Formats: sequence, structure tokens, C-alpha cells
Amino acid sequence: MSGRECYHCKQWVKDGEEHDCWTTTEAALTQELSQDLRDAWERLRETAVSFGDQRIYASHKSIMFSRKCCYFFVRPKRNFLELCVFLGRTLKAPQVRRADRASKAKVYHIIHVRHRDQVEAPISDWLRQAYELSDGRASQASTDHVESKHAPKASRVLPNEVENFGTYHHTTPAESKRIREDAKKAFSKLLRPLYPRRAALRILDAGCGLGFLTYVAATCFPKASVTGVDLFTHGSVSEMSKDQAIKNMRSLGIESRTSFLTHDLTKPLPPDPQYDLAVSNLVFHNIGKKRFKAYASVFDALKPNGYFVIGDLFPHAKGDLDYFRERSRLIAELQEGSYGRWDYKIRVLRKE
Ligand SMILES: C[S@@+](CC[C@H](N)C(=O)[O-])C[C@H]1O[C@@H](n2cnc3c(N)ncnc32)[C@H](O)[C@@H]1O
Repeated sequence: MSGRECYHCKQWVKDGEEHDCWTTTEAALTQELSQDLRDAWERLRETAVSFGDQRIYASHKSIMFSRKCCYFFVRPKRNFLELCVFLGRTLKAPQVRRADRASKAKVYHIIHVRHRDQVEAPISDWLRQAYELSDGRASQASTDHVESKHAPKASRVLPNEVENFGTYHHTTPAESKRIREDAKKAFSKLLRPLYPRRAALRILDAGCGLGFLTYVAATCFPKASVTGVDLFTHGSVSEMSKDQAIKNMRSLGIESRTSFLTHDLTKPLPPDPQYDLAVSNLVFHNIGKKRFKAYASVFDALKPNGYFVIGDLFPHAKGDLDYFRERSRLIAELQEGSYGRWDYKIRVLRKE
């Protein structure tokens, strides 16, 4: 059979067959990680995103974090995340397994991370210093050298913008970020035990906004497909648009498993598909009395015994609880702080 062996992955490629083993996504590179490494990876990524503007993209076996040039990259391995951090000096610290000159201006440092608790000072400080150094002050000649000598070739990469999930009304961007960090932890804890991790689930994110919970659910279940439903016009989260939600999914490397539907939840959802799981965060308290119609839309769209995991303020909880009791069984409940007068609770309901 005529063809060639790929120089990079050694796979045999038949003549005329498309082959692009350098093109990959963050999701593809992280989907096999153990839970500890996934948590560490997520914290690492969030830490980097908090520094400011940058591009995050997958290339071959690495995920690159870059401003004018790459300031660090991560290679997910079976038992650890290998970080390569570019700094202007040589660090002497037990966390650094190897350091060497990458160019006249920069030294690369190899660090292994095995647990999310390691993603704090001093490692987070070194990453910030690397980020600050990479704003272009180093000469282009030296940055080209840094990228070409130690970073994977970036000639065929998928450049990503950093995602933006918007700011909730009545909060500052920093408060919204903290709310999401807490919600992400709490939802992940409640969602994971519901189904095997690799189940090919259909998930509904009711009132998805810019896709925050769409992302959390897709991360908990890496073989699931998630549909986000929203009006995409409501003012309860800033910078609302379906395009931004799609961009966020692309940036996170999960666009092939996610889709968005413009729909008013107070109206029935299309009868097909039926969902194994519905999730929702901070939506129904915005809808007033019509929320009962919206609850009905969600329960009607669930398969028998499907789960509805809802985080909200429940300002008039009795009515909501009565309704939930009619349609479902309460499996778990978590109180996650309070906003103003109201508690924020996440309830896991199983459709009866
Ligand atoms: C505070 S935002 C939360 C967004 C997202 N769940 C998150 O946590 O980032 C509330 C969302 O509910 C959506 N929403 C409100 N009423 C809705 C309705 N009747 N049908 C669909 N979506 C609605 C809004 O458009 C908004 O995106």
C-alpha cells in the first residue's frame, strides 16, 4: 500500500488520506487525566487566566500559554503535569527538577505537578513572573529562539481566546469570578457521582448564559454532549450573546460536544432529545411565578429517572419545594453561601 510514515506520530498514512496529528485541542489532551490531575490542571489554567490577556492553545502534546511569546506550557502525562516555565533568572527550589538556558534572556524550568494544592505560591508566583516577562520586553530574536528551541512547534496550532462568562448583575467581576469558582467546585462534587465519568450522556444547561455550567458539566463527563438553552437577551449577566457562548466553548476545546439553543424556558422544549441530566445555575429566581412553567419544561425534557441539579437562591422556597416534591425525589442538597438575604443552595433532584 503506497503512503508514508508520519514523522511525528509514526502512524502509516495512505496516499491521499488526510493526516494532521499536530492539530489537537485542550480537551483531547486532558480527557484521560485522573481526577487529581484534572483538578490540578483546572486550577493551573484558572491561575493563568487570572493574569490577564493571553492565548491558550493546544499543540501536539502540549497546552501553550502565550502572550507575545510562550511564557509556559503544560504537558499532561499519566502521573503528573509537566510544566515548562520561562523566566529571566535561574530558580533554585526543590520544585524545579531541571533548569537550563533557553536563550540569552530566558531560562526554562521543568516542574512536575501532581495535585491542585501545589498550584499556589511559589509556583503561581513564578507563573505570574513568567507572564509579566513575556509582554514583549525581551527581543523578538530571543523570543523566537525560546519558542523554537523548547516549545513544541506552533506552526499548526488552534489559537484560542480566553473565555469570558460575563458578570452577574449586582456583583463585581471579581465577585462573579468567586461565585463561579465556588459553584464549579460544588456542582462538580454533586454531578460526578450521578453517572459513570465516561457515559455518553445528553445534558441540558437550562439558562446557560455564556456557558459556564455547560463547561463544568462537559468537564465532569468528557463523553457527554451538552445543550445550553437561553434567551440570550436577558440582562442578568453582562455581555450576553450566543456567539460569545460558542466562542467560550471553542476556547475550552469543547465546541464539538456543545450546542446552544435560543429558547424561552417558560415554553416547552422540543420533545427530542430527552436528557439524562439537566443543570442550571442562578436562573429561575429571575423568572417570577412563570418559573413553574420553566421547571415543567425541564422535567418534561428529562428521561425517566433523569437528574435535575439546580443551584439558585429560591427566594420563595416553599412553592418550589412543593413543586419539586410532585415531580421528583430530593437526592442531595448543598448550601453554598448566601447572597444578600438569600441562601444559595444546590439541589439534586431525580425525576420520578
Ligand atoms: C444570572 S444568569 C446565569 C447564567 C449561567 N447559568 C451562569 O451561571 O453563568 C441567568 C440566565 O438565565 C437566563 N434566563 C432568564 N430567563 C430565562 C428564560 N425564560 N428562558 C431561558 N433563559 C432565561 C438569562 O438569559 C441568563 O443567561
